[in-house]
Amino acid sequence: MSVHSDQAPSPVAAVVILAAGEGKRMKSSRSKLLHEIAGHSMLSYAVTAATTIQPEHIVVVVGHLRDQVEAHLAEIAPHVLTAVQEEQLGTGHAVQVALGQLADLTGDVMVTMGDVPMLTGETLAALLLEHRTQQAAATVLTAQVPDPTGYGRILRDAEGRVTGIVEHRDADDTQREITEINSGIYVFDVAALRSALTELVPANDQGELYLTDVLTVVREAGKPIGAYFIDDVWQTEGVNDRIQLSQMNAELNRRILERWMREGVTVVDPASTWVHASVDIAPDVILLPGTSLEGATSVAAGAQIGPDTTLIDVEVGENAVVTRTQASLSVIGPGANVGPFAHLRPGTTLGSGGKIGTFVETKNARIGARAKAPHLSYLGDAVIGEGANIGAGVIFANYDGLTKSTSTVGAHSFVGSNSVLAAPVEVADGAYIAAGSTITGDVGPGDLAVSRSRQRNVPGWVARKRPGTKTARAAEAAQEQKEPS
Ligand code: UD1
Ligand code: CA
Repeated sequence: MSVHSDQAPSPVAAVVILAAGEGKRMKSSRSKLLHEIAGHSMLSYAVTAATTIQPEHIVVVVGHLRDQVEAHLAEIAPHVLTAVQEEQLGTGHAVQVALGQLADLTGDVMVTMGDVPMLTGETLAALLLEHRTQQAAATVLTAQVPDPTGYGRILRDAEGRVTGIVEHRDADDTQREITEINSGIYVFDVAALRSALTELVPANDQGELYLTDVLTVVREAGKPIGAYFIDDVWQTEGVNDRIQLSQMNAELNRRILERWMREGVTVVDPASTWVHASVDIAPDVILLPGTSLEGATSVAAGAQIGPDTTLIDVEVGENAVVTRTQASLSVIGPGANVGPFAHLRPGTTLGSGGKIGTFVETKNARIGARAKAPHLSYLGDAVIGEGANIGAGVIFANYDGLTKSTSTVGAHSFVGSNSVLAAPVEVADGAYIAAGSTITGDVGPGDLAVSRSRQRNVPGWVARKRPGTKTARAAEAAQEQKEPS
């Protein structure tokens, strides 16, 4: 096979993802594989990497907490198959179970693991290329680690050819000195793999069928085996406990941020900025410290986010400024201004140049272009026209205890401070509402609505009821200034 042929290389027959193990050290009722880094389950990264190389089949071997794992797979990757390994009798047994699902395979089979989230599709492709270039029957992905404790070690002969793998617990002292480790990721010729699997015996410390022994069996059958070494150790690293989970999360985040910085995004403090793998950011965006961008969030050019802002599934328009804000499932228009201390709940859309200011909470609120709610408001189930002004402390009272209703404020209307709109009410375009009003009925275009008691002053009340107090003396002094005796 020529590497340089114009024809696309033949697809891999299958990628088998091992995911049946228990993950004891996570101490979790949730499957280890569903724990997330950078916003996605560990298993989803394994599936994504496998999918990148477009194999004919992907088979995930499930066992421990399989209901959770299967439900998750059905959601994120309905194209993958699962094979149930009832008892975890070893990695070799797991692959046997997977192949049991796949009759009539020819060509190459890759084996990866569900708990090695940083492995990329590019690395799988490079491993496959090496395997095919060397015309090997089995090729293992290896790396050099400072502390190889616990890993299988790569054994090589005097010429440097791989001869096999020995597990840490089965290794002698000299073998334990070896720092080249087995990543647990391989590519096999499927016929060689099938036949070698039938010859495995549990002759090891754990009494398991070791996939690692396949290499020795294949070699002893006179077929070539090889290794593909990568420098990027993180790609071979598994997650076994929550300490490794946090380290892996931080490293993946660091790589995501580096990629965005190369694309022209300013990240003021990478250590406190968290961006999920699924987020999209345009050049000239500035991310201030304490910013977290999650889910399907996108940020358009020139926008500034943070400090201390979390956006989940939020679309931010060009040049918008979002300060100290929590927002989810919302759209912030171009040039709009949000925060500080704003809470945008699902269904909020803020038009271009609009403002949601300090201590304002919104939910299912459609706010027009250049409309403003600058201070201390609740806008729930609200439709607010362009250029409208919502005064300080305005409440859209959307819930009567039974149902939620929508209220509308028309374009360029003014809602006076500390007003309550008891939904459903409709305030037309170009209307005014006097401060402190409780609005229970519709307001027509151009009308002023006043709905509060008229002011009444009681002259001399302080002098009569609070004589001798500082207040009374202040009143006297003021009176004196007004009408000097
Ligand atoms: C395995 C390798 C070791 C390698 C290391 C890399 C073997 C015998 N050893 O060791 O050489 O350095 O991975 O991380 O293969 N699994 C199943 N079914 C089973 C057993 C395991 O699905 O019956 C899955 C686990 O869920 C896990 C993976 O296979 O995802 C590896 O199993 P684990 O028991 O962690 O193997 P290690 O001892 O780490
Ligand atoms: Ca492991």
